[in-house]
Amino acid sequence: MKEERLNVEYLLGQYKPGWSLEQAFYTSEKVFDAEWKYIFQKHWLFAGNTAQIPKAGDYFVYHLQNDSIIIIRGNDGDVHALYNTCRHRGSAICLNDAGHAAKLICPYHQWVYDKDGTLLNARMMPEDFCKDGYNLRSAHLKVVEGLIFVSLADVRPDFSLIEKSLSPYLKPYKINDAKLACIKNYTLQANWKLVAENFRECYHCGGAHPEYCNAVIGANLREDTSELTLAKQKQWNEKGLATALVEVTEGTTTYAVRYPLRPGVESYSVDGEKVSVPMGMHKDHDAGVVGLVNYPNFWMDAVSDYVWTMRVTPVNAATTDVQFCWLVDTDSVEGSDYTLEHLTEFWEITGKQDGKLCENNFKGIQSKAYSPGPYAPVEDQVVNFVDWCVEQLRLGIQEEAVV
Ligand code: FES
Ligand SMILES: [Fe+2]
Repeated sequence: MKEERLNVEYLLGQYKPGWSLEQAFYTSEKVFDAEWKYIFQKHWLFAGNTAQIPKAGDYFVYHLQNDSIIIIRGNDGDVHALYNTCRHRGSAICLNDAGHAAKLICPYHQWVYDKDGTLLNARMMPEDFCKDGYNLRSAHLKVVEGLIFVSLADVRPDFSLIEKSLSPYLKPYKINDAKLACIKNYTLQANWKLVAENFRECYHCGGAHPEYCNAVIGANLREDTSELTLAKQKQWNEKGLATALVEVTEGTTTYAVRYPLRPGVESYSVDGEKVSVPMGMHKDHDAGVVGLVNYPNFWMDAVSDYVWTMRVTPVNAATTDVQFCWLVDTDSVEGSDYTLEHLTEFWEITGKQDGKLCENNFKGIQSKAYSPGPYAPVEDQVVNFVDWCVEQLRLGIQEEAVV
C-alpha cells in the first residue's frame, strides 16, 4: 500500500492473529508514528541501570525521538529524570550522551540547574525575576531494584504490576548496588518489532545459536527439560529464589521466568565456566537463568554471576538502537574476579547473531513477495507480543476517537 494512502485503522482490521504482520506494520512511518504515540509515549520504558550513574552528578541521556531525558544521580543518591530542554529558550543542556556534572549548565546562556532540576541561577535576569516555576521538567520515573524506568505519558502510568512481577526475581542480584562492567550500543537496520519478536522465541536458536544452545538445555527445542526443570525449581525454591512464571496478559506488560542451564554449565559463557563471583545475595553458580521482559523495550537475562540488560529504542520504522549492559557484583574486581572478554563474549556473539537475523528478516519483509506467514506453535510468545502491539494501537485510536 502506498504510504500516503495508508490507513492504520484499515491495517489493524487486516490483522490475522497467529500470522505475522502485514508489510506496512514493519515499513511504514505512519504506523511507526502511531506506535510512538500509542506505545512508546504511553508505557514505561526501560532507560538503564543505576550502576551507570554510581556517584552524585553522574548522568546519561536517553534519546526518545524529539525528547531526550537526562537520567542523573542527585546529591541525596536519588535518581532524577529531567527533560533535556532549558526553561529559558529551550536549548538542549547535556550535549554528551553520558558524563558527570556538578551542576547542569545550559551551553546557550548559562542558566544553572541543580541535579534535581531546580533552577539555581539565571544570570542577568531582572531583580524581580522569580526562579520558581522554571525548574527543568521531570519525566515520570520509577527505579525498581536498580532498574530505571521512565515514561513520557501525560498521566503517570501505574507501575505496581510491573514491580510486583519483577521484584522477586531482581532482589537477589542487588542491582542497585551492582557494578557496571561494560556497556555497548548497536544500531540495527530493522524495525523495532522484529527485534522484539526475535527475542520472544527460540524457534531460531537451534539453527542460529550454537553457543547459546550449548549453555541452555532445551534451547534447541529438541531436548525434554521438564524433569530437570521441576527438580531445579524445587532446589531454587529452597534457596528462596523466585520461580513463578509471569506471563503478559490483558493489562500487563511483564514476562518473567527462571529456567535451568545445561547440567555442568555454570554461567552464560562460551566455555560453560563461571565468569565472575556470585552476584548480590547468590552464594553459588546454580541459579539457572532469569529471563525478564517488559513491553515494549526491556529484556534482561541473568545468571548467578552477572546480569545482562537489553534496551530497545526505535529510531524510525527501519532503524533500531539496541543497548547492552553487563552488570557484576559490587565487590568483584576486573582482572582477578572476571575479565571483560570472558564476561561479554557470550552475549556479543549471540547478540550479533540475533542482530543479523533481525536485519535479514527486515530485508525480506520489504520485498513485494512478502505476505504474512503462519507462526509455529513454539512462537506463541511472538504472537503474545504482536497481539499486544495491535491491541495498543487499537486502544489508542479508540481513545482518541472518544476525546
Ligand atoms: S536557552 Fe538555556 S540559557 Fe538560554
Ligand atoms: Fe536469538
